[in-house]
Amino acid sequence: MKLFTVGPVACYPVVLKAMGEQMYSHRSAEYKKLHYDTVGRLQAYIETQNPIYLFSATGTGFMEAAVRNCVKDSLIVCVNGDFGKRFADVAKLNGRKVEIVEPAMGEPVTPAMLDDALRSHPEVEAVAITHNETSAGLINPLKELCAVVKKHGKLIFVDAVSSMGGTEIKVDDWGIDICFSSSQKCFGVPPGLGIGSVSKKCLEVAEKIPNRGYYFDLLLWQKDHEKGQGTPVTSVIPQIAGLNAALRMVEEKGGKQWYFNLYKKRNTRIRRAVKKLGTPVYPRRGSESPTVNCVKAPKGVPGPKVYEAMRAKGFELAQGYGALKDTTYRIGNMGYIPNLSLTQMLDALKEVYEEIAR
Ligand SMILES: Cc1ncc(COP(=O)(O)O)c(C=O)c1O
Repeated sequence: MKLFTVGPVACYPVVLKAMGEQMYSHRSAEYKKLHYDTVGRLQAYIETQNPIYLFSATGTGFMEAAVRNCVKDSLIVCVNGDFGKRFADVAKLNGRKVEIVEPAMGEPVTPAMLDDALRSHPEVEAVAITHNETSAGLINPLKELCAVVKKHGKLIFVDAVSSMGGTEIKVDDWGIDICFSSSQKCFGVPPGLGIGSVSKKCLEVAEKIPNRGYYFDLLLWQKDHEKGQGTPVTSVIPQIAGLNAALRMVEEKGGKQWYFNLYKKRNTRIRRAVKKLGTPVYPRRGSESPTVNCVKAPKGVPGPKVYEAMRAKGFELAQGYGALKDTTYRIGNMGYIPNLSLTQMLDALKEVYEEIAR
């Protein structure tokens, strides 16, 4: 099966090779070298001096960590789809008050919208933003939104699960306090590793917040980060070795700009092809995600039917998600996708549309 999924995605051969190595202790010198080398490469990639923690958990762990460590009472959560909703649920289930900023479906959060919400709720401590809403194939104007939040002096949490690695993020320049992702997306590594940068300000706030829990206590993670130990729990060594190999591969091939361009090329090719078939993508023009196209299913055809027909031809796309399950299907362009597979997938999609129309 050729994967055009939205995570887990197909992994690069160099990643799988690195992950196949024999294990060693997460307290060994070998591990420490791997850990800090990976952290350093990630810091350069997302342009930050902040520490980066490597959670033995997926990205959602950082939603819980952000809320438990850095919010005492309330925050604003921007919602463009199901993962924004998840962030809001995590906050509510941890007893925090949530103010939602939710544009119409398929529309981005605008700086004006966020500014209004912050004026109406000056009491909030933080704002959570989903950079790239995977369920709707939509990207928000993160840099501009961060500028608004900074103007109001609040903390910024960014869910970059399906954007980190595949498109530009400048953590320090944009003033992001927590920026997190998961291994199984743009870096083309299997699931199980959460990656997140945490600002000094967050750590200062955390010191005054009781009941931070244990597993995601940022002060515990910072202590071990500073100590040169890496992680307070057993590290997911294979995933970290895989991520290290992926970051080296990108560097060897031309650096992150090369990788961003590769994603853009694949993504635009898919978007143009589906549009030519008469089915445009779901979000507003200019807000299309660079890592996943959320495609409107042909008229009268349920999205899952396209997904199943493609599976029968050997291509695993992704079904629509949440409220868009029946009316859309998704084509991811993250991870290991040889050019030939992309051509074959688009040819198969054309055949599927012809078969459906008969
Ligand atoms: C934007 C976004 N946020 C959060 C998540 C949840 O990530 P994880 O399952 O790695 O915790 C996903 C997963 O697809 C996602 O796409």
